[in-house]
Amino acid sequence: MLITVSQLIIGIVDLAAAFLFMYGLKRMSSPVTAPSGIFVAGIGMLGAVLASFLYAFSVETTAKPHLLMNLGLGVAALAIGGGVAWWVGKRVAMTAMPQMVAIYNGMGGGAAGAIAAVELFGDKAHGATQLAVTLLGALIGAVSLSGSLIAWAKLDGVLKKPLRIKGQQIINATVLLGTIAVGGTILFAALGGTVGFIAMPQLIYLFFGLALVFGILMTLPIGGADMPVVISIYNAFTGLAVGLEGFVLENPALMIAGMVVGAAGLLLTLLMAKAMNRSVANVLFTNFGDAPKQKQGAIKGSLKPVEAGDAGIFMRYASSVIIVPGYGLAAAQGQEKLYEFVKLLISDGVSVKFAIHPVAGRMPGQMDVLLAEAGVPYDLIFQLEDINDEFKTTDVALVIGANDVVNPEARTDKGSPIYGMPILNADMAKKVYVVKRGEGKGYAGIVNPLFYGDNCDMVYGDAAAVMGSMIEAVRGLGAKAA
Ligand code: TAP
Repeated sequence: MLITVSQLIIGIVDLAAAFLFMYGLKRMSSPVTAPSGIFVAGIGMLGAVLASFLYAFSVETTAKPHLLMNLGLGVAALAIGGGVAWWVGKRVAMTAMPQMVAIYNGMGGGAAGAIAAVELFGDKAHGATQLAVTLLGALIGAVSLSGSLIAWAKLDGVLKKPLRIKGQQIINATVLLGTIAVGGTILFAALGGTVGFIAMPQLIYLFFGLALVFGILMTLPIGGADMPVVISIYNAFTGLAVGLEGFVLENPALMIAGMVVGAAGLLLTLLMAKAMNRSVANVLFTNFGDAPKQKQGAIKGSLKPVEAGDAGIFMRYASSVIIVPGYGLAAAQGQEKLYEFVKLLISDGVSVKFAIHPVAGRMPGQMDVLLAEAGVPYDLIFQLEDINDEFKTTDVALVIGANDVVNPEARTDKGSPIYGMPILNADMAKKVYVVKRGEGKGYAGIVNPLFYGDNCDMVYGDAAAVMGSMIEAVRGLGAKAA
């Protein structure tokens, strides 16, 4: 079979794009190289998208009358989609990032489903394998679309409570089996069998309808706090769906991009589950965080509030400080003030390090990004396994907007929902300051015995405001830093 010049160019650009996706992803594994990784992968995507316009030179004769119209629609879709993404991306708050990821992920699943719909309604997929792959991609894409939208609604607070009904698992299983049965019927009818009671387009509508309903039903019962893991699972689904549709369209860039996204999503899901010491099944089928079984009476000691300025001055005279940032720092957008405070301490000879827990915050890498945003040098930032042993020889642990990731109950209390989760050993520091607004619990909804410890003082207030007071107090001593 001869290929045209345009097809050759598309092939070369697609392969280059696939390489750039993988290279970009590799660079995203470290905060130092991540920005360039995103840029490299973006160039790959831009190349693949632009090259796809070259298909205009090899359309079938029957499609030629629609060529200009289709090109116009493609350009308009790119302009609108790219414009909206640019505008939203520039404005989105760091704490709203998981919602944005959920929406974009749903779009990816929807796009894979749409490709499958074009193939199915246009009767373009031929042969049992191609049809089965199209249907599988359609099912996974549609589930990812509706599931991701529910995940977005939960994260955004539109849906406030998980919706659980009796027999939920049985209903979900029935809908899934129903979808598979309709898919099987489509396959049977498309391969020449006769289905008397329903026409093909109706069957396809029913198939998509059931798949979308399944995505909704599967996601509704899961607690909002588990959504980051769920989004990551849907991310893997979307990648798989895109990869399958790439196979149907015989488009290598789509296949490779889909598989890379699918594999990355799967690995991320497993890593998050491991960092929380939970199985993926546990996230999907149990109600974590909603009904904590904690023995409240078992916690000894009392909460000891201190002034922010006093805590700041204490740290100024310490020789080593380890800072544990958490979700509250992102919520308060206090990272810049925090780094300003750190610069003051460093200029006065205090050794300061940041300790990052793998699931601190609400999405993977959130703390790394937050600190990078404030300009904190990477050599001050340490991951859990690299710094945990240092707490016991450190003068002060400053826990700022973090809670679960420093909860010592995870080591000892078998009944705790976070039992077994690796935690940062902040409680082992000689002195601990915890910055938070009040008695608010963390993601797991449990009380933290660290706060009641003899070596721990509470600095109440919004993280950004508290840092402001600490800076003022240390500056008042005549510190050197800017
Ligand atoms: P959390 O345990 O959620 O605790 C955050 C604390 O920040 C709260 O106790 C809250 O107390 C405080 N806070 C909220 N707003 C604040 C503000 N403006 N100023 C100061 N403090 C504020 O956070 P963490 O320690 O980062 O732990 C993360 C949790 O999320 C873990 O349980 C983890 O398993 C879970 N999770 C994470 C991920 C990823 S990938 N990161 C994914 C799924 C689940 P107050 O209300 O009293 O201020």
